[in-house]
Amino acid sequence: MKKLQHLFENNQRWAESVNQADPEFFPTLSKQQTPEYLWIGCADSRVPANQIIDLAPGEVFVHRNIANVVVHTDLNCLSVIQYAVEVLKVKHIIVCGHYGCGGVKASMGDEEYGLIDNWLRHIKDVSRFNEDKLGKLTEEEKFDTLCELNVVEQAKNVCNTTIVKNAWRNGAELSVHGLIYDIRNGILKDLDVCYSSCDDLDVPDSHCC
Ligand code: CO
Repeated sequence: MKKLQHLFENNQRWAESVNQADPEFFPTLSKQQTPEYLWIGCADSRVPANQIIDLAPGEVFVHRNIANVVVHTDLNCLSVIQYAVEVLKVKHIIVCGHYGCGGVKASMGDEEYGLIDNWLRHIKDVSRFNEDKLGKLTEEEKFDTLCELNVVEQAKNVCNTTIVKNAWRNGAELSVHGLIYDIRNGILKDLDVCYSSCDDLDVPDSHCC
């Protein structure tokens, strides 16, 4: 604990400043959370959800993993989505990738990193699905484009979960968005990916509603 003393000091300072600005902040927040957004992003330390979209604690429910991957059998991610959609009733699910993503970069090479190679297989799959788009690009362009395509693919994976499909079938007001963050300038870019119903999905097995 002694080695983390500076973090406790930071925390004391932060809690005091929040309390001074709004004495009701913590008492109100401790009673309930009503976020409108679920953020699924990369675990990269440079991509902190709340700061990037300038939202206070309580306003965004967050799930992060390496390279913002949504796997159909990942109980961790699925549980977060289910709780966010069915209990918190978020209106928006944001899948946010970022340029310069180490996970995406690692998936482009053949170097072995151990266990994580199995996780990165999912991004190799995204490359394989998009060979026509990626084949003619330079390595640098390919890296940026794969970061974007990975967001689009993972957003579709969110839509194809039973959770989101059932929510839409039951008339929930719920949209799934694909965004990408640029760690070089702090700017968030809309990838023009927005699904608000099964009809918005252009995949053959999406006729669920
Ligand atoms: Co990343």
